[in-house]
Amino acid sequence: MTNSQPWGGRFREGLAEVAFRFSASLDVDGRLFRQDIAGSIAHAQMLADCGIISAEDGAAIIQGLIELRADIEAGNVGFPADAEDIHMAVEKLLIERVGPAGGRLHTARSRNDQVAVDIKLYLRQRVEGIVASIRQLQRVLLRQAELHAATVMPGYTHLQRAQPVLLGHHLLAYLQMLERDRTRLLDCQRRADTLPLGAAALAGTSFPIDRHAVAASLGFAGIAENSMDAVSARDHVLEFLAACSIGMSNLSRLAEEVVLWATTEFQFIQIGDAFSTGSSIMPQKKNPDMAELVRGKTGRVYGALISLLTTMKGLPLSYNRDMQEDKLPMIDGADTWEDSLVVMAGMLDNSTFNASAMAAAAGGGFSTATEIADYLVRCGIPFRDAHGVAGAIVGYCVERNLTLAELDLPTLQKFSSAFASDIFNYLDPASAVEQRRSAGAASPQEVARQVRWWKSVVSGQ
Ligand code: ARG
Repeated sequence: MTNSQPWGGRFREGLAEVAFRFSASLDVDGRLFRQDIAGSIAHAQMLADCGIISAEDGAAIIQGLIELRADIEAGNVGFPADAEDIHMAVEKLLIERVGPAGGRLHTARSRNDQVAVDIKLYLRQRVEGIVASIRQLQRVLLRQAELHAATVMPGYTHLQRAQPVLLGHHLLAYLQMLERDRTRLLDCQRRADTLPLGAAALAGTSFPIDRHAVAASLGFAGIAENSMDAVSARDHVLEFLAACSIGMSNLSRLAEEVVLWATTEFQFIQIGDAFSTGSSIMPQKKNPDMAELVRGKTGRVYGALISLLTTMKGLPLSYNRDMQEDKLPMIDGADTWEDSLVVMAGMLDNSTFNASAMAAAAGGGFSTATEIADYLVRCGIPFRDAHGVAGAIVGYCVERNLTLAELDLPTLQKFSSAFASDIFNYLDPASAVEQRRSAGAASPQEVARQVRWWKSVVSGQ
């Protein structure tokens, strides 16, 4: 039996050992000690400023908390084994340090609003870190995109060679996706920017507290206006995990392309040794494990979202202990996404793309057939008919095992008298890509324009 619970007064018996172990969360929420202490410092300052505790007690509490934080960070102080969660652990350590004054910190507060503020402060910090990691990956992709602003490769639909594009263009598509991931995250952070502290257990408090002062000192845009909502809301954590899940889904697509491109069949990319692994049995192998793990860990982040969605579903207002299960998915979702971003950035920074394999692949597979159709359209032939002619030419080549660039003019003219010698400007992939100058298209000019724009966005941030 353990008897050190804060509700001891009402109870004759301590909590059963197994019940304590089942309900303790310190091994998970211990990660939030900085946020817990920051919230407590702001709360103590406000209690003293409002005359709810004495200025001396306020000062002693704050000094004690600052020292405690330094000691925990330095590893000089461990959490007490009999503390149920981070809030109890910090309070216990504080009272040990500053004496009975420490027992006044919890005035006009409950663990329900305390945990809610800890979570919001934690999310804010994780969003900052993830946003910076997204930028870093964008910078790496941009560097490679600039290097390969004129590298021709096949563009795919249905994973079949469709039309030639530039590697720079392909990589810049991911910058766009990552930018949406970044702003999505900042967007949910905006909605989470209200202070729950001061809601107390659920109904507010009769002490003359100043929630706006606490909000300002903790850097919140405002206060959560309804005390019951303040302690029961976890939709900001759900939004965060939804953003993590979508971000991982996008990252997983990039990871899949790396896995595919690293195969002997494609040979589009050579992953640096520092980010590949070998086989313990097959000496020839170099495996894209980092990309595979990013792809694999995506499931884990979806799991975190589904886990918390399920926990929250059907919970009556306001706080329910079920909600303690929020922290593991929140922390794991954040860790997994951030680590994945960092590893992807490192891996792509250490990889080289094989321009000649890409060019060779772009040359095969009739990826310029659309150019033939477009050429005929420019000669005044309706697109549907032009499409038919181009299709017939492809069929002719397939039967004879020829590429489009290998056809001579008389042969082409058998299919349409409109062909002239300038058709050969369109049959090779590099010239074909050159022609695609519509806004956002794959031409070198458009890619250069995108690169310039992205440079101004991501530089120095
Ligand atoms: N460890 C708890 C949690 O994370 C803190 C809030 C506890 N509140 C309570 N009334 N038991 O949710």
